[in-house]
Amino acid sequence: MNKTKLCEAALKALENSYSPYSNYKVGAALLCKNGKIYTGCNIENSAFSPTICAERTAFAKAVSEGERDFEAIAVAGGLDGQIKGEFSPCGVCRQVMAEFCDNSFKILLVIKNGEYKEYTLGELLPDSFDLKSE
Ligand code: THU
Repeated sequence: MNKTKLCEAALKALENSYSPYSNYKVGAALLCKNGKIYTGCNIENSAFSPTICAERTAFAKAVSEGERDFEAIAVAGGLDGQIKGEFSPCGVCRQVMAEFCDNSFKILLVIKNGEYKEYTLGELLPDSFDLKSE
């Protein structure tokens, strides 16, 4: 896996962010086990609740194309697109990751060009709810 390339794809996806209400731009790049990358950005809405996060946009694109096996996701975000520190996925997005990925799924938090911090889903969402294991 080229982690630097995945982070670059997340930064590029951030450029398409539609975020006129928060001005907070987020980009994500989701790597499938077959090597394909699906990107996503946050898409806001004036009614607020229809807003979708960048990570879930990427998952929706990938899953709707038949992908089910994922290795890693890189995420980047900041006010006005300025990356000032690490951006960490919200709880809803972590739960969506847990639907399709196991605890070893990698989450790369982009800090700035070429720099990132790496976590696993198990670290960011321990003991997640999982109906599949019932
Ligand atoms: N956002 C994401 O895209 N991903 C997250 O994990 C958290 C938040 C977006 C939603 C909204 O458009 C903006 O960031 C501010 O909350």
